[in-house]
Amino acid sequence: MNSNDKVGSGNLEKRESFKSSFGLLAAAIGSAVGLGNIWRFPYITGEYGGAAFLLVYLLSVAVIGIPVMLAEVIIGREAKKDAIGSFKELSPRTKWYSSGVLGVLAAFMILSFYSVIAGWTLEYLINSITNQFAGKDVVAIEAMFTDFISHPTRPIIWQVVFMGITALIVVVGVEEGIEKFSKILIPLLLVIVIILDIRAITLPGGKAGLSFLFKPDFSKLSKEAVLAALGHSFFSLSLGMGIMITYGSYIGKKENLGNAVLKITIADTIIALLAGIAIFPVVFAFGIAPNSGPGLVFITLPNVFPQIPGGYIFAILFFALIAVAALTSTISLLEVVVAYGIEGFNLSRKKSTIISFTLITLLGIFASLSNGPLSAKKFFDRNLFDFLDYLTANYFLTIAAFITSLFLGWKLDKKLVEKQLTNDGTISVGYLNVFRFIIKYVTPILIIIVFISGVFL
Ligand code: TRP
Repeated sequence: MNSNDKVGSGNLEKRESFKSSFGLLAAAIGSAVGLGNIWRFPYITGEYGGAAFLLVYLLSVAVIGIPVMLAEVIIGREAKKDAIGSFKELSPRTKWYSSGVLGVLAAFMILSFYSVIAGWTLEYLINSITNQFAGKDVVAIEAMFTDFISHPTRPIIWQVVFMGITALIVVVGVEEGIEKFSKILIPLLLVIVIILDIRAITLPGGKAGLSFLFKPDFSKLSKEAVLAALGHSFFSLSLGMGIMITYGSYIGKKENLGNAVLKITIADTIIALLAGIAIFPVVFAFGIAPNSGPGLVFITLPNVFPQIPGGYIFAILFFALIAVAALTSTISLLEVVVAYGIEGFNLSRKKSTIISFTLITLLGIFASLSNGPLSAKKFFDRNLFDFLDYLTANYFLTIAAFITSLFLGWKLDKKLVEKQLTNDGTISVGYLNVFRFIIKYVTPILIIIVFISGVFL
């Protein structure tokens, strides 16, 4: 892919493929691994009671996430277009592309609150550099977090900075450079999380955290929790927004789609699990509430760094790396919105980026303020921030993934699916019929059941 062919850009004269399988994997893993793994997964696992939720999440990744991701990359490689264009290409004059429209809306809303959290990671990077965690007890560290997020301007400044960096990269079109960069950084993040894991599980009192995470108590599992697990599997794997359709459109002919999808999913799941293992022992060892909400990672880990030899450096590295992991995700989210502006409204890339940046940042400012000065304003019992988070993952992504699975299972020519999975008959895939069955019946039916019971019952 050369620098003029931006991922997600609509007006592609000629489409090149990723040069190596690593190019695609780096981009897709870069999009998938982000705050969803390190920030969102632990916080909702804590909120919904731990191990039983985790089990449902893992099931949902395996039975629904993997087939939906496979469906997205099949659609993308077959149509060779972006999210909305692919549906239009494969099924002209129908309304299937509406799932792409839903995706653009979801990207818009997710990015508005995601960039707030990404901003928090920058504040915490500075806090680590200026050694703010040393000598503080749990109460002080919690207070530091609460004071910060409810501050009327500080989190907003960081959020705007983060959005600005993302927009700059999307305008200049150096995504590929960033993705190459993340090939080194994500393994490094993995190493640091493993070091944190070791410290966390050896903390006195930490074992209770592991039981919380791995010993399921199904009596605690609500219908809403099951919906949240499903929604999070889409969120974490970057599904339901056409991102994997767009990346799929760049995958070379020889790539084995099934293998690629499996690798992306495994990498994403392992990082989330390791983040959970780093956080829950700390929660219990320090007497923090597991359902502390979106602040969980920011009020747990700062307690641990001072207890590790070299913790000062590890803290800096940790927050720098999750900021970068967040960046590779925000790039993919902004790209979805910008590409839509280019395609749908005939804007130049620059104009589209500036307009998207402005509108998303504006909504994000309100999301940030809803943790402080505007916290009294509720949307269905949640502040704006939590509401956007909840609505997008559990409704938008879920509905879009449902439409995608129906499209692949019922609408797309079976021969095309086979051609894509077998690379035109050059490789044999034993799971072809299983996949067809799952995407046609199992995935849509499960999504419907979970959605209806989570929302209405
Ligand atoms: N998957 C990313 C994370 O876990 C977030 C993200 C990036 C995303 N692109 C997406 C979520 C597209 C849903 C759809 O942090």
